[in-house]
Amino acid sequence: MRKKISLIGAGQIGGTLAHLITIKELADVVLFDIAEGIAKAKALDIAQSTSVDGHNVSIKGTSNYEDTKNSDVIIITAGIPRKAGMTRDDLLGTNLKIIKQVAEGIKETSPKAFVICITNPLDVIVMALQKYTGFSTNKVVGMAGILDSSRFKYFLSQEIDIPVKKIETMVLGGHGDTMVPMTSYTTVEGKPLNQLITEKKITNEKLDTIIERTRKGGGEISKLLKTGTAFYAPATSGIEMAESYIKNLKKTLPCAAYIDGEYGIKDLYVGVPAVIGNNGVEKIIELKLDSIEKANLEISIKAVKELFQAAIKIDPDLKSK
Ligand code: APR
Repeated sequence: MRKKISLIGAGQIGGTLAHLITIKELADVVLFDIAEGIAKAKALDIAQSTSVDGHNVSIKGTSNYEDTKNSDVIIITAGIPRKAGMTRDDLLGTNLKIIKQVAEGIKETSPKAFVICITNPLDVIVMALQKYTGFSTNKVVGMAGILDSSRFKYFLSQEIDIPVKKIETMVLGGHGDTMVPMTSYTTVEGKPLNQLITEKKITNEKLDTIIERTRKGGGEISKLLKTGTAFYAPATSGIEMAESYIKNLKKTLPCAAYIDGEYGIKDLYVGVPAVIGNNGVEKIIELKLDSIEKANLEISIKAVKELFQAAIKIDPDLKSK
């Protein structure tokens, strides 16, 4: 039987997710939004596209959580996106309320689902979602690291004129300006990045510029779009996680996962490499960090912790959970 993926939020990312799932024939899709018309319209539009390309999945738009019942995977994008000039943290108050409603909607109807959260500010929203649903921590995870890594990889590939497929990299930490591109784990055609610097294929200054551009990658797009933010790359990244779960690929993917001891951090969601297979997050991979990466990760973790404290001030319920 085909799997069922419910998408909570049928906006820019939700609609793109639905289209990608259909094209890949990954699962049947339920597109949920409080704006019922948007969910129904996008579902109908995508369903009609299957008549052209022959993809064999069912897709339904709804504003009724009953239709999402017994989902195998739920991907959440419900919330408001940034407008130009806003930080992800500015979204906290509004998106926290929305995520509480979503948690209420899914916790009874799909208790066994693997839940991927994309709503920002990511690390804190996914942590709140896990607390509101009470789902086990290996079944609730946030999408950010794949997206941040894809930006870093793309900018590097443009700079050194090497196809993205030949570059391996990872961006860890919180999904914000403190994220940590892991230069010591970056390889180009199998060569460590340091070697490329020695060979003068890229300068340290240029690398710093690329790291900075990666950190501000979402902001660059929202500045151009003015009314919203990126959606193609975020949706593609979310699909990679869903696919690794559904097909038990056990890929190691940088995700906002729950850690309790790894990297010396306790009881927090933050971007780390996680193995995703059909048990959800099956393992956290602990990389050996150099002193700069370690210091940067600590800064990032501090920022996530502080924002979670701000979330507790908004909703004291979070403290007791
Ligand atoms: N329940 C379900 N859907 C909701 C709710 C809710 N309580 N509140 C808002 N929505 C829906 C909106 O109606 C809208 O269609 O969420 C959708 C969000 O879509 P967009 O505004 O297009 O935003 P998008 O670009 O998809 O980003 C969504 O992901 O990356 C993050 O920062 C981004 O937090 C934002 C989220």
